[in-house]
Amino acid sequence: MLMRARHIAVAVVAAALSVAPASDHAASQTPTPAPAPGQLPATPRGDGERGKALYSKNACYQCHNNEAQGGAAGPRLGPDPIPFQRFVAYVRAPRGEMPPYTVRVMSDPELADVYAFVQARPRPPALGSIPLLLSDVLEVDNAWVRARRVQQASHEISPLHEHPDSVIVYLTDARQRITGADGKAREVSHRAGDVAWNDAAAYAEENFSDQPIEMIVTELKTGVKPPTSSAVALDPVRLDPEHHLVPIENTRVRVLRTILEPHLKSPLHDHPHYVVVYLTALHTTMKLADGRLIDNPRRAGEVAWRDALRHETEQTGDTTAVEIQIEVK
Ligand code: HEC
Repeated sequence: MLMRARHIAVAVVAAALSVAPASDHAASQTPTPAPAPGQLPATPRGDGERGKALYSKNACYQCHNNEAQGGAAGPRLGPDPIPFQRFVAYVRAPRGEMPPYTVRVMSDPELADVYAFVQARPRPPALGSIPLLLSDVLEVDNAWVRARRVQQASHEISPLHEHPDSVIVYLTDARQRITGADGKAREVSHRAGDVAWNDAAAYAEENFSDQPIEMIVTELKTGVKPPTSSAVALDPVRLDPEHHLVPIENTRVRVLRTILEPHLKSPLHDHPHYVVVYLTALHTTMKLADGRLIDNPRRAGEVAWRDALRHETEQTGDTTAVEIQIEVK
């Protein structure tokens, strides 16, 4: 998809350049010899209106987007572009995937107009000033984690904002376009039940599909003392690796995918502090270390926090249940 967009964009550029090498602006002015790069002003006085037309005619928008805000195929250019000399130097001799524009195609005064247009673009909202998605529901909030239920309507865009280190549990299939602060975008695809780790970063998310997305986002708080879970002596991953998979492990979390077959009895085992996301309905009875029995009926998609505990469990349901456990280190 991304590659195709690039190819189309390049084709359009080529077409625009071959059909219209001289611009209206250049035609209406006496041609001026191009000054050496060193002689270009740092901030030229271009005409933003003409710049808008040139930006469109020369297909800059194909990769940098209509408002020069960047997109899948090129980074953000405005409203704070790099200094004009560097801007011109870059357009003449790009180093990456951008096609070069020679002086014959776009003169320096024309680039000054484009520069004025780019400078006048609206400023993106300040990071952190954006309220969380309205459809967010806070499921868990304690000293270590914040778990949110995030729903994104089809083609909804949640604007650029800071995300801490987090674990995402997808409750639905999801196809999203993630655009970083540098304007670079990537597409991610997940199936319902997948888990993913996201390093802290600022990014915007767009639901790229015709279906709504629902996910549980567990954010790890920064600068906090880790929970003092008692040592896990009876580790379910060691005791029963077949039913306790470890899709993610890093310095902050260990994530388990726990599969409970019907009427399965799990022997005594330990958990450190953790968030649990029930991917399916589940009904267990838990026998705690002190002998207390706890009835634990859950619906698919429920989320809970548990302090460290040692217990035995019995799956009382007739169908296989799956839960994701996000152990906090
Ligand atoms: C085919 C896609 C494409 C088109 C068309 C395109 N660019 Fe780019 N541009 C890019 C990409 C990708 C980059 C990032 C670096 C690279 O790969 O060259 C970039 C980088 C730049 C940069 C450097 C930004 C920085 O912060 O260093 C400038 C300036 C720029 N483009 C201006 C323009 C202008 C002006 C036009 C139209 C005359 C234009 N681009 C047309 C893809 C494009």
